Amino acid sequence: MRKVRVNIKDKSGGNSYDIIIGSGVLKSFSQFYDTSKCSSVALVVDKALLNQEWYKTLLSSNDFKQSQKVKFIEISGAESVKNVDGLSYLWHEFQKSGLDRKSLVVILGGGAILDLAGFAASTYMRGVAFIHVPTTLLSQVDASIGGKLAINLGEFKNLVGSFAQPKAVIIDLETLVALPYREFVAGIAEIVKHGLIYDRKYLSLLEKTPLKQNDQERLMDIITRSCEIKSEVVSLDETEDGLRKTLNFGHTAGHALESLSKKTNYPLLHGEAISLGMLVETEISKLIGFISQDDVNLVRSVLQIQGLPVKLEFSIDLKEAHRIMLSDKKNVASKIKWSLLEKLGKATFDVEVETSVVEKAFEVI
Ligand code: GLY
Repeated sequence: MRKVRVNIKDKSGGNSYDIIIGSGVLKSFSQFYDTSKCSSVALVVDKALLNQEWYKTLLSSNDFKQSQKVKFIEISGAESVKNVDGLSYLWHEFQKSGLDRKSLVVILGGGAILDLAGFAASTYMRGVAFIHVPTTLLSQVDASIGGKLAINLGEFKNLVGSFAQPKAVIIDLETLVALPYREFVAGIAEIVKHGLIYDRKYLSLLEKTPLKQNDQERLMDIITRSCEIKSEVVSLDETEDGLRKTLNFGHTAGHALESLSKKTNYPLLHGEAISLGMLVETEISKLIGFISQDDVNLVRSVLQIQGLPVKLEFSIDLKEAHRIMLSDKKNVASKIKWSLLEKLGKATFDVEVETSVVEKAFEVI
C-alpha cells in the first residue's frame, strides 16, 4: 500500500488529506477514515458498479453492511447526468436519507460522478464531508485529486462548480480489473501528460512498453507517481492562479475535439480527446519555437505505444473548433490562454498564440 499526502495550504492545514493506493484497500476502509465519528454515511455509487466483486465485498465489510447508519444512493455515472438535474436529484436524496453536517458521503465511480456528487456534498448544508473512491484509471490520477468539483451547463463543460477538498482519496487497484480496455487506455493520456508537463524521467518510463491492466506492480508505481505529481501541483496552487494551469495541457484543443466528436460516428472518450489535444498543443509548442520536431515525434510515439489515438477519424471545421476553444472558461478577455510545453518535462501557461499557428498545428492530427 502507498500513501501520498495532498498538502493544502489553508491556515489550519485542516484541508490536507491522504491518497491511499493499493490492491484490496477498500476492505480496510475504517483504517483510513474512522466512520464511527460520523452520524451517518451515504454511499453514492455508479449503478454500473453494483455487480462488481469488489463492490459486493465492500458491502459485506463492517463499515458498509446494512445498518440504519448507512444509506445507498445509486446514480448513473454518465457525463449526461452531470448537470443541474443530477445535482438536484442528489440533494433530494441526501435530504430523504437524513444527512446532517456530521454525515460522510463516500463517492464511488469515475470522473463525472466524483465531480457531480462531490459538488452536491460540498454544497449540501454548506458542506458535508466526502471521500472520493475513483474507479477508473483516468479519475484515479486526475479528477479525484485536488478538489475541483463541477457540473456542466448545457454544452459548457464544468462551467458551474467550486473548489472543496475530499477528506481522503482511496484508490483500489481491484476496481481497474473489470474496467473496459478502451477506458483503461484512455486513462493513460493523463499519465503521459504528467510526464510531459512535470517530469521528463517519468515520461521515459512510458516510452517503450504499454501499461497493462493486469500489471498491478507497475500500475501501483505509475499511479503513485502521477498522484504525487498532481498533489505537488495542487499543493502549490490549489485554486489555479498559476502552476495548476499546466495541468490543462492538451485540454484546450482536446475539449474542442471531444465536443465536435459527439456529432460524428466517432465519439471520443475524454482521454482519447486529450491524447489528440496534447499532440496539437505539442505542435503549437514547436511552431512557436519552444521545442523541436524530435520532441513532437517523441510525444507522438509515446502516445502510440500506449495505444492512444494520434490521428483524427473525422474531419473538423476549424472555425467551429476555434469557437469552442474561445468559450473555454480558462480564457480571459476573449483570448485563448494556452498551457504549452517549454521543453519535455516542463510546461508553462497563459501563452497567447496567433490563430494561424493554431490552425496549422491541427494539421498534425
Ligand atoms: N484536471 C485538472 C486539475 O485538476 O486542475
